[in-house]
Amino acid sequence: MVRFDVKDVTLASEGIRRIQWAGRDMPVTKLIQERFAREKPLEGMRLTACLHVTAETANLMLALQAGGAEVRLTASNPLSTQDDVAAALSAEYGISVFAINGEDDSTYYQHIHSALEHKPTMTMDDGADVVATIHKEYPELAKAMLGGTEETTTGVVRLRSLQREGRLQYPIVAVNDADTKHFFDNRYGTGQSTLDGITRATNILWAGRTVVVIGYGWCGRGVASRARGLGAQVIVTEIDPIRALEAAMDGFRVMPMSEASTEGDVFITVTGNAKTISIEHMERMKHGALLANSGHFDVEIDLAALHDRVGEGRSVRPQVQAYDLGDGRTIHVLSQGRLVNLAAAEGHPSAVMDMSFANQALVTEHLTKLSEPLAKEVYRVPYEIDAEVGRLKLQSMGIKIDSATVEQERYMQSWEIGT
Ligand code: ADE
Repeated sequence: MVRFDVKDVTLASEGIRRIQWAGRDMPVTKLIQERFAREKPLEGMRLTACLHVTAETANLMLALQAGGAEVRLTASNPLSTQDDVAAALSAEYGISVFAINGEDDSTYYQHIHSALEHKPTMTMDDGADVVATIHKEYPELAKAMLGGTEETTTGVVRLRSLQREGRLQYPIVAVNDADTKHFFDNRYGTGQSTLDGITRATNILWAGRTVVVIGYGWCGRGVASRARGLGAQVIVTEIDPIRALEAAMDGFRVMPMSEASTEGDVFITVTGNAKTISIEHMERMKHGALLANSGHFDVEIDLAALHDRVGEGRSVRPQVQAYDLGDGRTIHVLSQGRLVNLAAAEGHPSAVMDMSFANQALVTEHLTKLSEPLAKEVYRVPYEIDAEVGRLKLQSMGIKIDSATVEQERYMQSWEIGT
């Protein structure tokens, strides 16, 4: 009997079609699923996954299930669930899903609790809410835990903080830090899906606009380059001098937020940090400014201060809340300051999630094969897995590459030959 809590199971047939469509563009995950179905490496594992409940995630869940795992899936954001996909997974594929688009915070956490009821032996997080819940409320579950994985930068930052305090209770592999994850998912995935979300929410023309990108990590690099590609003039703000320098040499204008706030038509936060757009910044903005966040949590735009200053605003379109500043100017916040790429669009395209989720599947298998248990630390993805994902993705794209000759291998190992 599959337990689940989804919006409407009659959406399942739509969800199946959506999952299959995404699967067409996830060849690496599909290859792994086929091997898992033959080899059953995850037999006996109970896995709690806290991920965005999308068609791409569904394909990962099917791969893990094919490998023999008993999977429970809960949402990693209240606004990112695709209700038809949640229905299809629960009603058609026998996977317990606890996720309803638009759920409030209390339901969000209730769903995490439900997803932990089967006493997992592994966890898979996107933002570390499951690991945090286990540490705060179910510490006994950590004892039987083989390990976990973490999908995103924000989650890895939280987990490293737990480790620094000496309180991490089981090992976690930082999937985010694999090269085949953040070089592609964070950069090209966030870059494209963020602009997609803002476009769907507002239907703006990007050409000729001034876009302020706050944060120049992998996500910020992607957002800035895609905005430039659409003809926008891009300003970058940063607190890290090296990243700021990189943005400047990539050809973007770099300035403090106090200056950028008067220039921007569209502001996009991708920092992972809190209050990167403050009320003082908002008070300086042009009439009509659009504010969107693509960082993991809804902390980057100081909405509480905006609400204190001008009230709750008014809805002018789905996903767009207008705030009158009281002097004739109005600014707009998209998707309640939550991940605009998932709330207003469909998240990253399947082809890029293919690599992230191939890493997730292979790392999960890796955890079951260890001869010695890992220490309670945050680990990198083994290079062999990262390289295998890159190799399989290239293969799926029909791209061949060279390999080093014996002489080149020898040269790269030696130090004697110089000028
Ligand atoms: N994170 C960003 N995009 C995503 C997607 N399409 N599916 C799952 N997680 C995501």
